[in-house]
Amino acid sequence: MRAIRGATTVSCDCAEEIRSAVGELLCKIKEKNSLSYSDIVCILLSNTSDIVSFYPAKAAREAGFSSCALYSSAEPEIAGALPLCIRVMVFAEGEGAAKHVYLRGAANLRKDLKKFAIALDGPSGSGKSTVAKRLAEEFDILYLDTGAMYRACALKALSTGCAFEEKALEPLIGALDLRILYRDGRQHTVLDGRDVSEEIRRPEVSMAASKISAFACVRKKMVEMQRKIAAEQSCVLDGRDIGTAVLPDAEFKFFITADSATRAKRRGRELEEKGYAVDYERLREEIEERDRNDSTRKISPLRRADDAELVDTSAMTIDEVVAYIKKKIQEKV
Ligand code: DC
Repeated sequence: MRAIRGATTVSCDCAEEIRSAVGELLCKIKEKNSLSYSDIVCILLSNTSDIVSFYPAKAAREAGFSSCALYSSAEPEIAGALPLCIRVMVFAEGEGAAKHVYLRGAANLRKDLKKFAIALDGPSGSGKSTVAKRLAEEFDILYLDTGAMYRACALKALSTGCAFEEKALEPLIGALDLRILYRDGRQHTVLDGRDVSEEIRRPEVSMAASKISAFACVRKKMVEMQRKIAAEQSCVLDGRDIGTAVLPDAEFKFFITADSATRAKRRGRELEEKGYAVDYERLREEIEERDRNDSTRKISPLRRADDAELVDTSAMTIDEVVAYIKKKIQEKV
């Protein structure tokens, strides 16, 4: 019999996030320890007392862990305890060392697992978001798509008819209700209580995001939010200014690029998969225009940090890029 420990955190006391976080944690424990459902005898779950909107045990049952005994309890309120935290102890048949799993903010509970950040910058279509997602899976860390945050600001400005001027944007951004949530291991961008993760991918939002990201009030607010998320856990962030401005002390920095025709081809394929008709020549022009906007703006332009390694992915597959970066990181740790 093995006793396997695990813990995770949620960003708020909301049922959907609790469901998803518990499911993710237990699935990771099952996968890492090569367990089948029938190997699991019982699971003890506990949560900090600031979690009241959903039983973690119910989340476990809903995630398929229902043939074993489940017991869930609230922890006493301890001053200074990690907030919004869910802990589990999984008792399972079998031999061998237990592989414990600590996700999100709970990784801080294990001082032996050093917190680190990976900064991936580069122009649009360079493949950095796909690479970032894969690295997050490989290292069991959080992925933050910072472009999605600028896209959400752009969507807000477009939908309210706000002028793209500093003075007009200040109150809009000051009152912005933007939350980044994680469900089923995926980032969800929630604007005014509505999940806009798909809507912000629309081509007109892409161009507006590039424009809005040049304004000081927008960047200030987004960078503050990004640093707050990154301070809590090991993570990989992708964007334009992560290595230069958001996390200049990130342990690992890469600048990912590819020629504009290759990038247009990649973006075009993604858009076609989502049902959009694509004019590749126009898309390449738009990408080049965005590159110009992003790299010539005054504040935090798209630029390779002096200590970031350049990775040109024009002739590489995603698997090759992930393997290359993973190797570089492992060589350093
Ligand atoms: O990565 P993306 O295409 O989703 O980003 C949309 C726009 O947001 C991009 O054109 C520039 C801006 N952006 C930024 O200025 N800084 C970041 N860290 C991320 C994105």
